[in-house]
Amino acid sequence: MALRHLAAQAGLPLGAAVAAEPLRRDPAYRALLAREFGMVTCENAMKWGPIHPALRTWAFRDADAIVRFATRHAMAVRGHTLVWHSQQPRWLEHGSWSRPALTRVLRAHIATLVGRYRGRIGAWDVVNEAVNDDGTPRPTFWRRVLGPKYLDLAFHAAHRADPKARLFYNDYNAEALGEKSDAILRLVDGMRHRGVPVHGIGLQAHLLLGDLPDFKSVAANITRIAARGLTVQITELDIRIRRPVTAAKLRAQADAYLALAETCLASGACTAFVTWGATDKSSWVPGFFKGYDDALLFDRACRPKPAARSLAEVFNRQV
Ligand code: XIL
Repeated sequence: MALRHLAAQAGLPLGAAVAAEPLRRDPAYRALLAREFGMVTCENAMKWGPIHPALRTWAFRDADAIVRFATRHAMAVRGHTLVWHSQQPRWLEHGSWSRPALTRVLRAHIATLVGRYRGRIGAWDVVNEAVNDDGTPRPTFWRRVLGPKYLDLAFHAAHRADPKARLFYNDYNAEALGEKSDAILRLVDGMRHRGVPVHGIGLQAHLLLGDLPDFKSVAANITRIAARGLTVQITELDIRIRRPVTAAKLRAQADAYLALAETCLASGACTAFVTWGATDKSSWVPGFFKGYDDALLFDRACRPKPAARSLAEVFNRQV
């Protein structure tokens, strides 16, 4: 049975980040996605730069194509992302903004984007990567112009645009207990205390074989998030391998995928398990981490790797 169905039966929807380009051009990529994944995230298509290239210009083509594909194949959709320091259009980042003017632009951006896909996108990464690894706030463009309240503003705007969507704070290096996950929890606790509609924490999980988090600590982190009534989603999972890639490393990678899936399933608090790409051919890893590769579940020819087989095993065990 395909992974998406095993995952669904186990109660942990399996997703993949999708790129518009191979979706258009590569039938094997389309077939693999539709067969093995029950959820998609736009890898880039909904970010500010690609989708809102000028103040009065929207470029919905890629995002629409991905959402249409998902609908056709009964896949859920995660929205990514409304506030981030990266991949911003020049007009935004290099504009000279007053606080009220930027507030209006952010509210309008969120109303338009979230509103367009209302009812189609079940979960949004409202704010992405606002915390540094040491737990201090990241000094982004948004924080510089709007001050620390920009997070509240974004979550309120997203909730207004789609009251049913589940709204997430999303970050990396925050899977296990530690300074960064502590800070994120404080941030989210603060928002909830102020009545801000935030429903969950997205753990990106861009992991590195050989330097994996302690999965007991990940379990403890998920437990403390869940204890607050918040949901957890694994939003951008990949486990990169330092070259040369060997059979032994692929087996160790499979064990790590398995350990994270088991941790999620055991917690009962995870509602999605999304990998950052579908095959090693379309992964961002080799381009971003020199000397690393092979981070995903399927190889360049769309064949399942050991990690795909261990996930099948762990999902099967649940049923
Ligand atoms: C990455 C994409 O995969 C690349 O194609 C793009 O060039 C840069 O961004 N954290 C995130 C994602 O939240 O949006 C990033 O995606 C990876 C890190």
